[in-house]
Amino acid sequence: MIRGRILGIETSCDETGAAVLESDKSGIKILSNSLASSVTIHSETGGIIPENAAREQVKFIIPVIKEALEKAGVEKPSEELDAISVTVGPGLIGSLLVGVETAKTLSLVWKLPIIPVNHLYGHLYANFVGENPMLPALALLVSGGHTDLVVMEEHDKLRWIGGTRDDAAGEALDKIGRLINLPYPAGPTIESLAKKGNAERFNFPSPLINSSDYDFSFSGLKTAVVREVKSLDELDSETVGNICASVQKAIIDVLVKKTLRAAKEFSVKSVLLGGGVSANSALREALKSSLKKHSPEVKLNFPEKFLCTDNGAMIAAAAFFKEKSSWKQLEASPSLHF
Ligand code: KG4
Ligand code: ZN
Repeated sequence: MIRGRILGIETSCDETGAAVLESDKSGIKILSNSLASSVTIHSETGGIIPENAAREQVKFIIPVIKEALEKAGVEKPSEELDAISVTVGPGLIGSLLVGVETAKTLSLVWKLPIIPVNHLYGHLYANFVGENPMLPALALLVSGGHTDLVVMEEHDKLRWIGGTRDDAAGEALDKIGRLINLPYPAGPTIESLAKKGNAERFNFPSPLINSSDYDFSFSGLKTAVVREVKSLDELDSETVGNICASVQKAIIDVLVKKTLRAAKEFSVKSVLLGGGVSANSALREALKSSLKKHSPEVKLNFPEKFLCTDNGAMIAAAAFFKEKSSWKQLEASPSLHF
């Protein structure tokens, strides 16, 4: 594990993040974590238009890095930092290139090594900020682009055991949100409206809940909601709350069931959550109580909410467990996987 200070840069989707993290004997801590989002633009278009996201990131990247360095008290990066880490994929190519090309330039100017980071690893390593979860661990990554179950045997020894066959959990929430006129991204709004709704009102499917694999499928859930919405005379606020609660329950039920089964099968010591959807309190609570009941020896870890959605800190956190490299090896890889 690398000891020292690492700058983390994240630009894989619609956020522009930069952070400075330090690792010493006591673990990994955040010195600064700056973020600029183009979410209001995407809210207007009802989803991300890649070209718009990348244009905003070109504007944000230098101010965000400058702010992260200032907040961390870094005056001479070439002397006070040990490496620059950057997301190389997966993600939108235009967005990734903004971070990757900026990192290359800074590496040349400051004469610092580069550490390329897989964005998916970043989400999982958000769990290692201020904590040291026990391995082997089972990680559930639930974001706008991914729904994956991964066994983390050792650092950098990850085994993918299953994932979504179609829409990711967050993608399903965002698409369903659009159907019922919620702003993008819909996940946080669905979470808060679900609190007032009746989860038993609609019996939406939890596809593949009883399949023997670790796969997921959420596009059928979206289709079921389309059908239901079409059959309604009116979409009043009570109905919207009930749809939110029922959809959230359908997604959580299948995530919890498969995570629990995998935790048993692979005899893990901990379960890690990661990705934007893992900010959902109902999901955290459901997993916590199910683990307590069925596998009390397994510890549940989840990052603080601000570390669940995309950010620069999680990229630097993952970098501490990797090897330093050179800017010459750095390349954006939009379809990188685990
Ligand atoms: O990890 P992330 O920021 O970006 C990707 O790498 O995809 O995840 C964004 C996703 C969106 O689909 C958003 O609706 C969802 O995470 N999300 C939530 C919550 N906060 C964000 N879903 C459910 N409950 C939340 N509180
Ligand atoms: Zn992400």
